[in-house]
Amino acid sequence: MFSFNIEFGDCATRVVVDPGLLDHVGQFLLTAGLPTLKAVSLITDDTVGKLYGGQVTASLSAAGLDCKVQAIEPGETSKSLQCAERLYDGLARQQAGRDGLILALGGGVVSDLAGFVTATWLRGVPFAICPTTLEADVDASIGGKTAVNIDAGKNLVGAFHQPVLVAADPLCLKTLDRRDLRSGLAESIKHAILFSEEFLAWHEERADAILALDPDTMADLIGRNMRFKADVVREDPREQTERRVLLNFGHTLGHAIERCGEYRHRHGECVALGMLAACRLSHSLGLLSATDVDRVEVMLRRFRLPTVLEDPPEWSDILARMRVDKKVRQEKVRFILIDAVAQPIVRDDIPKLAVKEAYESLLPS
Ligand SMILES: NC(=O)c1ccc[n+]([C@@H]2O[C@H](COP(=O)([O-])OP(=O)(O)OC[C@H]3O[C@@H](n4cnc5c(N)ncnc54)[C@H](O)[C@@H]3O)[C@@H](O)[C@H]2O)c1
Ligand SMILES: [Zn+2]
Repeated sequence: MFSFNIEFGDCATRVVVDPGLLDHVGQFLLTAGLPTLKAVSLITDDTVGKLYGGQVTASLSAAGLDCKVQAIEPGETSKSLQCAERLYDGLARQQAGRDGLILALGGGVVSDLAGFVTATWLRGVPFAICPTTLEADVDASIGGKTAVNIDAGKNLVGAFHQPVLVAADPLCLKTLDRRDLRSGLAESIKHAILFSEEFLAWHEERADAILALDPDTMADLIGRNMRFKADVVREDPREQTERRVLLNFGHTLGHAIERCGEYRHRHGECVALGMLAACRLSHSLGLLSATDVDRVEVMLRRFRLPTVLEDPPEWSDILARMRVDKKVRQEKVRFILIDAVAQPIVRDDIPKLAVKEAYESLLPS
């Protein structure tokens, strides 16, 4: 079992990762530092609720915890104020009080939305997460960022609210769509390129076990990613310094590709393309070696992530998207580059032309 605590000033998150853990969530909640805990409001989505809701509610009952369930429709459109309001109404019917806890069971959509509801219900009640997608395991469940989307943009309304417990069961990944799985792997590769050459080699050596979802290998992968993210978040819990900006590696172009493509591509697929372009850009600016650029490209292919952008948007649309994201200042673009593996740098002075060339390197020949 992988287990550690993340301390953030006056609050702490306990992180546990273990195959089969969903059967024991209740027990873990009893030891999460909430001595008067009696009731849990479970928030999930219809798909995850059908697959794992019974297992989690059984574990809560076995621990003597009263459990009420609300399920949202799966998908990004549920990350809305309307959906949050329905959940508030449900919590009111449940008479959910400050001595209860809200448990999110699902992917990043459920944890972002349920986290936002938790941060605002009665001005904030205790929160816990059982992530069920790889994206949520390695990224969304750690860091305390919660959000809903509004018409003006994604994640524009939110709050920081740290969970008391994050309990990840790698066995959940067996039912996940393979494309969603690979998309989550892009974030794991991102952490490796940013923080650890050894972890990059670890992915190369264990590619078969990872793709076969070997439970212990996946527990290791999830736990190590959570630690990387936790280390960054602990240093910058409210995203006020350059440190947390590093996590946007691959996301500058990635987000623009994702939005211009009207979300046809998965987030992680766009991040994979964004990382490859950022590595090529780093090389063209005299940083990352050609060998390391090749190494990244081979790894992305190995995990069946895209290295070519089919049906590409116009460069002018991509640039406009990066402007909206405030990553373009006058004629220069802000980019996270890689000097060498595990040596990221933030640069604000990248000429637009160099970024355009890196983007065009992704287009089909
Ligand atoms: N808060 C953060 O720091 C942070 C970080 C990264 C991403 N996010 C957010 O996360 C969201 C994306 O999350 P996601 O990629 O997990 O998508 P998701 O939550 O939409 O889940 C993807 C799909 O998989 C289904 N699903 C989930 N677990 C399953 C399982 N074990 N088996 C079968 N089906 C399963 C869901 O029902 C859904 O249809 C975005 O809204 C993004 O903004 C937040
Ligand atoms: Zn991401």
